Amino acid sequence: MLFREFGMSLDELRALQLTRLRSVVRYAFERQMPYRAKCDAAGVHPDDLRTLEDLRRFPFTAKSDLREAYPFGMLAIKREQCVRLHASSGTTGRPTVVGYSARDIETWGELMARSLYAGGARPGDIIHNAYGYGLFTGGLGAHYGAEKLGCTVVPMSGGFGERQVQLICEFGARVVLMTPSYMLAIADEFERQGIDPRDTAMRIGIFGAEPWTEGMRVEIEQRLGIDAIDIYGLSEVMGPGVACEFVETKDGPTIWEDHFYPEIVDPDSGAPVPDGQPGELVFTSLTKEAMPVIRYRTRDLTRLMPGSMTAMRRMAKITGRSDDMLIVRGVNLFPSQVEEQILRDPALSGHYVIELSRSGALDDLLVRVEARMVLEGGAAGRARDELSRRLKGMCGLSAEVEIAAPGAVERSMGKARRVIDRRPKS
Ligand code: DLL
Repeated sequence: MLFREFGMSLDELRALQLTRLRSVVRYAFERQMPYRAKCDAAGVHPDDLRTLEDLRRFPFTAKSDLREAYPFGMLAIKREQCVRLHASSGTTGRPTVVGYSARDIETWGELMARSLYAGGARPGDIIHNAYGYGLFTGGLGAHYGAEKLGCTVVPMSGGFGERQVQLICEFGARVVLMTPSYMLAIADEFERQGIDPRDTAMRIGIFGAEPWTEGMRVEIEQRLGIDAIDIYGLSEVMGPGVACEFVETKDGPTIWEDHFYPEIVDPDSGAPVPDGQPGELVFTSLTKEAMPVIRYRTRDLTRLMPGSMTAMRRMAKITGRSDDMLIVRGVNLFPSQVEEQILRDPALSGHYVIELSRSGALDDLLVRVEARMVLEGGAAGRARDELSRRLKGMCGLSAEVEIAAPGAVERSMGKARRVIDRRPKS
């Protein structure tokens, strides 16, 4: 086996985690002053950490803590010792800056290589990397991992739909990396060019950076004739490669627990939630040098499941982010719930957008979804009524549904923008 960590027993894993946890909490306390201040305020000290469960007594780190320390206040090493910076744009306010030491970059490459291997990539493969290169961690993160695994990387980045298809075909990529929504746009481009993706060397797609449903997996696998693998990560914790699915099982990303200690908490109260129950994912980095995070609130909603291919736990598909949850006429709604209903209808594609507006006191919900092909006769009306009925049945909300012609919904090259909220800010 290429990665000996896959064979680690649960006892070995827990012992390693405890050793690393005690050391990283002490390291953060000594070197990250904003975190030390939080510990002091909470009356806890690294000496209080004797078991893995004791971690619950320590304060959380939130995205706002990283913003307040902008740009370099959370670094645990001198800025001069950072070999790279990444930043997540964020929709509002300052970006969050993440620094990496040379050793962090090594570890990231190693974990990304492990992720690609789990996803089915093998040394010698051609990997077409269409994650964006730049401050976003997707492009470079995946790139270094693919090189480390011994693959030939095509550093394509996003954009140029036509060229993407051309190079996938002509270079003979076996593995492609991009967001799932962009893969759908590329599937359209294959169709437009009259090329059957099954006639290419492409067999595996490793998709992440945005929420996607099981329905979307089926859609991608059927349209492109590939295995669609879920990869998860976030810049504050490292970047892509915090967790990845195994191609053999496709049963939720395995969290590389020897480097990231996961917890699930109640998103409102912060109270710990047992494995198997849904809540917000929280991570403590166990080996990061430049900018460790202790109990980082990801806002991603999921649950933890026992390991299947390894002793390390898996996470269920992310259902959404606590801050992506829409409250429409008092009803909580996640875009992924809408996606699930859309993809139950074979006449509808995965290109959709949810628009919210307000007329008078009430919220209006509009779902614009693209038909897979031009719908003739009464077919569009039937698809519209059916989706509207399903949405009503699922969440009780009356939504206006608009069936758009193929190609009418805007494509994204990276993370898809699923929601346009035009309601006045209260
Ligand atoms: O999106 C890192 C990444 C790049 C992951 C490429 C996978 C592939 P950020 O830009 O910091 O980093 O965004 C992180 O994206 O908190 C989730 O909300 C979401 N996300 C990432 N992967 C998945 C996934 C990268 N597989 C945020 N499923 C995270 C659902 C995901 N959501």
